[in-house]
Amino acid sequence: MTVTRDIMRETTRGFSKYYNPELHGELRLDTNTNVLGSNPAAERYLAEGKWDLNGYPNTYSDGLRGALAELYGLEADNIIAGNGSDEMLDVTFKTFTNWGDNCAVPVPSYSLYDYFVKCNGGRAIEVDLTEDFQLDVDAMVRQDAKVAIMPSPNNPTGNSFRTSDIEEILSRFDGVVVVDEAYGEYADDSMVRRIDEFDNLVVLRTFSKAYAMAALRVGYAVANRNLADMMMSVKIPYSLNMVSEGAAIAAVSDQDFIRRSVEMVREQRPVLDAGLRRLGFETFPSDSNFILARSPIDHAELVAGLKERGVLIRDFGSKRRTENCVRTTVGTQEHNAFLLECIADIVEG
Ligand SMILES: Cc1ncc(COP(=O)(O)O)c(C=O)c1O
Repeated sequence: MTVTRDIMRETTRGFSKYYNPELHGELRLDTNTNVLGSNPAAERYLAEGKWDLNGYPNTYSDGLRGALAELYGLEADNIIAGNGSDEMLDVTFKTFTNWGDNCAVPVPSYSLYDYFVKCNGGRAIEVDLTEDFQLDVDAMVRQDAKVAIMPSPNNPTGNSFRTSDIEEILSRFDGVVVVDEAYGEYADDSMVRRIDEFDNLVVLRTFSKAYAMAALRVGYAVANRNLADMMMSVKIPYSLNMVSEGAAIAAVSDQDFIRRSVEMVREQRPVLDAGLRRLGFETFPSDSNFILARSPIDHAELVAGLKERGVLIRDFGSKRRTENCVRTTVGTQEHNAFLLECIADIVEG
């Protein structure tokens, strides 16, 4: 038997593998993790930990769901926890879409939305953001779609969407609206505490960014009890391992670290932005811990030059709407100074 890619599910045949750079100890400003380093409370938990590895973790991560419910003033039954917010995306599409259903996905936004929609047999309908990277509300609701998804703040553009636009989509869209707040800790507005105002709202959050625990893969969804119950019945039982769950509970109890992390980004973001502009970049307004910028020289040349000098940033330059753009995480003062020095060397040299 000759096996070709035709053996794959129709909607996944065109897939290639995800971003997986070869690493040689570079400064990583390409994944928007917390540049202050590992979450200290989670590290302490891991250092002290003793686990019964023979036992299963709690089926639905009730301990973490309880801690998050307390943090937000919600009920544990409003929360679904799992293996990164990527698992929560998967659970969302698994729960709410049938084979062939349309899902409205803004462009540009998180590249894995298209992947998760197609993994679950759906069709990702691209809906362009407006010129200033805001939601085109009419275009989002006009799609004959079952799910509409939007990251706010948006990745890779960095800006938050207007709350009034999200509210309008929630009221006009005849399906489930997913607001992905992976970078929500950095923004002023959030939909997390508003789940009971809407029948159709799912909010996603992660421990991978401000919480500085990407390695442990923890994410969660927040929704009214009706939707949360549906999603919980679809989610893979035990998908969040007990070590990660315990570390996440410890991390929730240290909100001071989150505040410090957010403050640092708010201080450093304008400094980095100004430095990039001085070097000839067009920068876009950001409410998150990264900046999208249009390069004054060829994007691939810039990214390769930085890699040679020991810094990784992310290249979006070949994609529609982000032509010749790169995305960099906002670093500490030292990181940003080094990044700007390397860029000056490439651009001016
Ligand atoms: C907008 C957005 N959503 C979801 C994720 C996935 O995060 P996690 O590490 O929780 O799977 C990312 C990661 O970069 C992201 O940028």
